[in-house]
Amino acid sequence: MIHPKARPLLSKLSLPSPIKKYFSAEEWNIDLSNNTNPYMGWYAEYPDIMQKDLKEIYLNTIASLNFSFTDKPLTLTHDNVLFTVGSMEGLDLLLRAFSEPNQDVICIATPTFPAYEHWALIHNLRVETVPLLGENLNLLPQEDILSINPKIVFLCDPNNPTGTKCKAESIKNLCDTFDGLVVVDEAYIEFSDQPSSLSYLSKYDNLIILRTLSKAWGMAGLRCGVILASKQIIHTLRYIQLPFGFSTPAQERVKERLLYPEETFATWEKITKNRTFLMQELSNLKSVRKVFQSSTNFLMVVLENFHETLYRVKQHHIHVLDCSASVPNSIRVSLGTEEQNQKFLTALC
Ligand SMILES: Cc1ncc(COP(=O)(O)O)c(C=O)c1O
Repeated sequence: MIHPKARPLLSKLSLPSPIKKYFSAEEWNIDLSNNTNPYMGWYAEYPDIMQKDLKEIYLNTIASLNFSFTDKPLTLTHDNVLFTVGSMEGLDLLLRAFSEPNQDVICIATPTFPAYEHWALIHNLRVETVPLLGENLNLLPQEDILSINPKIVFLCDPNNPTGTKCKAESIKNLCDTFDGLVVVDEAYIEFSDQPSSLSYLSKYDNLIILRTLSKAWGMAGLRCGVILASKQIIHTLRYIQLPFGFSTPAQERVKERLLYPEETFATWEKITKNRTFLMQELSNLKSVRKVFQSSTNFLMVVLENFHETLYRVKQHHIHVLDCSASVPNSIRVSLGTEEQNQKFLTALC
């Protein structure tokens, strides 16, 4: 069943059919339905578009991580998961499935990742922005969101570019009181020591979580994002997703990384240790006014003498993101290797 909040257009479409061989190898062991080259081996076949096994592997792997769960175990299955071409495709799919161009309004809490607004404008949607509250910009402006009453609200938690995380309960409260869809982009959740909103999925079917394998999982080049949501939402999104975007070699690499995650986990530990170190060192520098608390693998740093200090960083051939348009005098710097971080510190001294 298509989700009742989806665009009416979707009810006129049909689902792309999975390649039969992935369904039941015995029943369909000769597949002459796809006009592919029969002499060219495994990659001559279309990729599996259901990826049931890989979805279960993803769920099992994240279930082993503390940050995934707050109060109770989850009962998610492969039906609650959709792999996308990066989480960028995930947000595009949500906009296309649930909001009517020239009619619906979406809401974003700023400063935040600019892609939400970008794709919403491309879809001819009206974008209303509400400012995040508090001196660390980590408090949700729930009343403002409710007064706009958008079709979808996009929250980035932990947030890009501030790196801060809001309390999971505030997202729960929003899901409780808001009738539209709440999309929480958790692109950086693996670096947070505070809980994800994932455990609320079983209670709120207006909650949608976006994840990505581009950041902590180190697979940006493979393009794999993840949508976690109710079965009905995932089913609905399948009507509009371009089929076969998740290629066979990408599926193979992702599977390998998820089945043997220890090396990746060890890098997360290193990155969070480096974050503590860099934060401390930065707070002692005269050229730094403020460092935002970070639940991510980057830091938002407010500089003294902004232009002069940023010029020094550039002179050291280090590229950081100028965020002064969203938070005055600020930059966003990713955590690099120990050596790269040290060079960044030297540039600021
Ligand atoms: C908050 C956030 N969401 C999504 C993305 C995009 O991720 P992907 O590579 O999965 O498209 C980024 C990348 O910078 C990001 O910062």
